[in-house]
Amino acid sequence: MKFNTKTIHGGQHNDPSTGAVMPPVFQTSTFAQTSPGKPVGDYGYSRSANPTRSALEEALASIENGAKGLAFSSGLAATDCLMRSFKAGDEIITMDDLYGGTYRMFTQIYKDSGIKFHYVDMNNLDNVTAVINENTKMIWVETPTNPLMKLADIAAIAKITTANNIMLAVDNTFGTPYLQNPIDLGADVVMHSATKYLAGHSDVVAGALIAKTAELGKQLHFQQFATGATLGPMDSFLVLRGIKTLHLRMQRHCENGEKVASFLNNHPKVKTVYYPGLVTHPFHEIAKKQMSGFGGMVSFDFVSGIKQDSITFLEKLKLFTLAESLGGVESLANHPALMTHASIPEEKRLEVGITNHLVRLSVGIEDIEDLLEDLKQALA
Ligand SMILES: Cc1ncc(COP(=O)(O)O)c(C=O)c1O
Repeated sequence: MKFNTKTIHGGQHNDPSTGAVMPPVFQTSTFAQTSPGKPVGDYGYSRSANPTRSALEEALASIENGAKGLAFSSGLAATDCLMRSFKAGDEIITMDDLYGGTYRMFTQIYKDSGIKFHYVDMNNLDNVTAVINENTKMIWVETPTNPLMKLADIAAIAKITTANNIMLAVDNTFGTPYLQNPIDLGADVVMHSATKYLAGHSDVVAGALIAKTAELGKQLHFQQFATGATLGPMDSFLVLRGIKTLHLRMQRHCENGEKVASFLNNHPKVKTVYYPGLVTHPFHEIAKKQMSGFGGMVSFDFVSGIKQDSITFLEKLKLFTLAESLGGVESLANHPALMTHASIPEEKRLEVGITNHLVRLSVGIEDIEDLLEDLKQALA
């Protein structure tokens, strides 16, 4: 199947008992057994597996070209599950620009774990090879990053991980499998905040891991089952429904994203526009190589450099909603320093370029004329 067909049919089958085209919401915690240890069907207890979640997990594996998909109660729960694969003494290499919650988990939750993290600028892969040693167990990349749209060259990093027998994990939340397939480029595991583009309607918090091999999938399923941050049946249904229109939504997100980036790029009050589709973007060539489009996330800051200007702009928006999160059908605007990335210390934020006047837009799928009009009036 090609991608658009997979979003609808990948791993799916009609319900065998009723013919229902969409899997029913199996809102049950447990399943009857005929004799101890002999369930009626394939299911025993919903923390281990639930048929609605299974349908979603099959869809996830299909669209990301992996062997096994797993659905979690949030994106961070998915990341945390993967992190449980490592032990004291292990080392992980990651990027110097990460979603704030991922950074908070690595620096605070895993602070006393004995796992050592290296935060490097992956623009220059010598920075990666310089810190690899026999304890290095994983490279974790987010590409494009939240909020500066930095990219990591997945295929080039995969060469390094393969040569050194290291796991490569890719947070594909911003890219989505519509735009890039990390497993095809050499990743071992893909992570998603399914809250965002996969679900796509700002009505659910969910996460996903997709493993390249059945063996890794089995290991991660054991960790998920044994720690318990699984996605409920109703939320699984919502994410699955969202995936069925992922290709259509992403097409419009990309079209609108490009137009918003170009409008901002030509506006006298705007300093830098961070969008992988702009030829001036430092990672444009990598984006062209590994992505089939540039997505709907656009960040920018102000010529004035004044924090209050970004706050006033956000207060004046009418159609863009000032809110955390991204990837839904509606356009959202966010102030990373004060909202999503507030957990990163100011000096670290400024070091990587998350200024106090940076604004991040999640460009939705509304009519572009209305979106541009809103930006124009708020900038004025
Ligand atoms: C790139 C990225 N990764 C991970 C997460 C965490 O996902 P969740 O909020 O579903 O836990 C987010 C949330 O904004 C994100 O943007």
